[in-house]
Amino acid sequence: MKIVFATNNTHKLTEIREILGSAFEIVSLKDIGCDADIPETGQTLEENAHLKALYVYEHYGLDCFADDTGLEVEALNGEPGVYSARYAEQYDHNSEANTVKLLRKMTDITRRNACFRTVISLIQHDADNPGSYHETLFEGIVEGKIATEKRGTAGFGYDPVFIPNGYDKSFAELGEEIKNKISHRARAVEKLAKSLITNSSPKKRG
Ligand code: IMP
Repeated sequence: MKIVFATNNTHKLTEIREILGSAFEIVSLKDIGCDADIPETGQTLEENAHLKALYVYEHYGLDCFADDTGLEVEALNGEPGVYSARYAEQYDHNSEANTVKLLRKMTDITRRNACFRTVISLIQHDADNPGSYHETLFEGIVEGKIATEKRGTAGFGYDPVFIPNGYDKSFAELGEEIKNKISHRARAVEKLAKSLITNSSPKKRG
């Protein structure tokens, strides 16, 4: 089954292709010739995931899923959350600046609980109502702690400062194989995969 993943982030594409396996052909925005910078103007992860998936559905007429992820730090009242990509205000998608800002804000904070939360919006043609779509949302959460300094080189974004519960290494030290088994995105994608597989299998006649 072919489906668009509304991203050009190669790390995310690799992660998702590994998790979904060969039953699905996952194509990126670049693969469908979309070079738009899809606006992420929502106030929540759910809204942003919805906006991205809907953009592809409306402009290309293709079934699509999109994710939005936030790092939610307990002692910072859920910051950076939906603003994770542009936490260091003058920079967008600058992981180094975002991580430095987070570590600086956490300098004297001992309560370091945090979680990564991913929301995936899946938008598909509604076979029963031609011309309309239906949307399903999937959520994945991994709980952990913010390290006191950057650790490790694998992964991307906030991976060097996030230590998942049950481990004493950061995502960037644990590497992709372990991260992909336990991560927020893996958990959301597992739910997505279950739904895609269930809904793509031939329906039994009653
Ligand atoms: P987005 O979902 O791509 O908009 O990501 C929002 C922000 O969270 C960006 O700064 C990403 O680098 C960061 N981010 C998203 N997923 C992960 C992850 O799995 N590990 C570390 N950082 C992430």
